[in-house]
Amino acid sequence: MIVSNWKMNGSKESVEKWLNEVSKNIHPRENNPCVFCPPACYLDLSRKIIDENSSLIKLGSQIIESSTQNALTGGISSQMLKDYSTDYVLIGHSEQREHYKEDNSSLRLKLNSAIQSQISVIFCLGEPEEIKNNNQTQEFLIDQLELLEEEDFGLLTLAYEPIWAIGTGLKAENKYIDNIHGFLKNYCQTRFDLKQNVSVVYGGSVKLENCEEILSSDNVDGLLIGGASLDPETFSKIYNIS
Ligand code: PGA
Repeated sequence: MIVSNWKMNGSKESVEKWLNEVSKNIHPRENNPCVFCPPACYLDLSRKIIDENSSLIKLGSQIIESSTQNALTGGISSQMLKDYSTDYVLIGHSEQREHYKEDNSSLRLKLNSAIQSQISVIFCLGEPEEIKNNNQTQEFLIDQLELLEEEDFGLLTLAYEPIWAIGTGLKAENKYIDNIHGFLKNYCQTRFDLKQNVSVVYGGSVKLENCEEILSSDNVDGLLIGGASLDPETFSKIYNIS
């Protein structure tokens, strides 16, 4: 799975250009979905352009509200996301954990909301720099996995994004990524007694120049890309390498 996370970037014009170009450049395969996550205000437009191009690009939302009550100013519900045939949603991104003070209990409610509506979840987790330096990464990640349940895994992909690597240009070393992904897969498989494979994608300063090396690990099932995904040509090249 290759995911483009636009964060708070873009305009109507750039969304249109990106989708038209990427639709021509790539042919997403079912076993390697391409997911486009624009800001929520461009979901409708994105849906239209994807359909016009008969493209297999999947639409993903950066946000989802946990509540289904309609008296919530600023909320976007899972039903609204379904209205635009949104297939994926990012939950637990470190920027939202920090800025919106999201914790395991509020993230659990968002997961419930997505999964009840059959929207696939890309669940982000990762450690800050001081935790890595103190060799406490595994304990930290175990705590972030605490809210998950066995039933989630039918619609769940993990996105390992070390916080110190996001937007910094400091991609984690390949051996480190491979180790952590292996740990996440084994831990979930055992803890939740899973039959199926746990899919784990990597995010944090992924670039055209480093993507092939990251993807060469058997424990890496895809990429979650921020900054480098904004340019349609670069993103298409990354998808085509994957
Ligand atoms: P980056 O962001 O690729 O710009 O580091 C990744 C992310 O936050 O999803």
